[in-house]
Amino acid sequence: MSVIRSVVRGVGSYLPATLVTNADLASRVDTSDEWIVQRTGIRERHIAAEGEMTSDLGREAALRALADAGLEPGDIDLIVLATSTPDQTFPATAATIQAQLGITQGAAFDLQAVCSGFVFALSTADAHLRTGMFKRALVIGAETFSRILDWTDRGTCVLFGDGAGAVVLEAVAVDAAGGRGVLTSHLRTDGRHRSKLFVDGGPSSTQTVGHLRMEGREVFRHAVGMITDVIEDAFAASGESAETIDWFVPHQANRRIIDASAQKLQIAPGKVVTTVDRHGNTSAASIPLALDVARKDGRIKDDDLVLLEAMGGGFTWASALVRW
Ligand code: ACO
Repeated sequence: MSVIRSVVRGVGSYLPATLVTNADLASRVDTSDEWIVQRTGIRERHIAAEGEMTSDLGREAALRALADAGLEPGDIDLIVLATSTPDQTFPATAATIQAQLGITQGAAFDLQAVCSGFVFALSTADAHLRTGMFKRALVIGAETFSRILDWTDRGTCVLFGDGAGAVVLEAVAVDAAGGRGVLTSHLRTDGRHRSKLFVDGGPSSTQTVGHLRMEGREVFRHAVGMITDVIEDAFAASGESAETIDWFVPHQANRRIIDASAQKLQIAPGKVVTTVDRHGNTSAASIPLALDVARKDGRIKDDDLVLLEAMGGGFTWASALVRW
C-alpha cells in the first residue's frame, strides 16, 4: 500500500564566522574552560556579526539545503521557520527569507517553541504536506541567541550560540511499510513550567526584547524524563525501538542531558550524534545543524532510521522518527 509522506530531499546549515571559545568567555565572566566542558560539553560557539540577523543565518542554511536537494527556491511552496529570535516582532522572519530567496508562491510563517522549535516545525510542515496543501517545504531552525543573553550572567551566557540549519521536505507517495519520510512525530507543552526558562521582555509586557533567564537545575531535573517519555511515544506509535534506529540526533543543549537520555533509553553510544561541543546550544537550529554534520560526514545514509528529540522553554518537548 502506498501513502503520502514527507521525504527529506536535502539538508544544510550555517554557522556565523566569529568563534568564541570558553577561554574567551573566561576573560569576560568568572568561569573556566574546565567548568563549562565538565558541566555541558561545550567548547566553543559562533556569534553573529553586527548587522547579521536570524534571517541571514536562516537564508544561508536554506540555500545550502536547496543545493543539497538539487532544487531551486522556486520549487518551494512552504517555509516554516522555527525561531525565538526573530529579526522583528513582525512580519515573520520566514517572510523575509522567502522574499530574499525570490519565492512568491505558497506560504511562509514562523513557529515559536524555543529549543523544541525544529521538531515542532518539522511536524507542522509534515502535516501540511501530507494533506496535499503544499508540495515542497523548507523547514528552518535559525537563532541569534547572542542578542538575548545577559552577558554578565555566567549561569546562562556560556551555554548558547548562534546558527541555523534547514531541511527540504517533499510530499512523495511511498510504500507504507519501510518507505522513507517522517514516520511519526509527538509534540508536548506544559505551560506551568514557563517561568523556569523565559525571556524577561516582549512587545505586550515590557515593550523591550529582554534577556534569557533560566533555573538551570530545574530545567535539568525535568529534561531527561520529558525527553525519554516522548521518545517512548514515538517508539510505541511506530513499532521501532532503540535497537532498530540507526541514529539518535538530539537537541544539542548539553552533553550530560544527551548522554543521560541515551543511557535511559538504552541507545548505544555509537548511534548518538553530538555536536554541542562545536556550537553550544543554538536552540531551534541545533538539530538540523547536527543532522547536516552527520549526513555530510557519511554517517546518515539513505534509508537510515533517525530519531530526533528536543526539550525547551514552555516547557515544550517533542520527538520525531524519520526514515532518511
Ligand atoms: N562558571 C563557573 N561557575 C558557574 C557557572 C559558570 N559558567 N555557572 C554557574 N556556576 C556556579 C554557580 O554559581 C554555583 O556556585 P555556588 O555553588 O558557589 O553557588 C555552582 O556553579 C553550581 O551551580 P548550579 O547552577 O547548581 O550548577 P549545575 O551543576 O546545575 O550546572 C547547568 C549548571 C550547566 C546550567 C545545569 O544546571 C544544566 O545543564 N541545566 C540545563 C540547562 C540547559 O541545558 N538549558 C538549555 C535550555 S533548555 C534545553 O535546551 C534543554
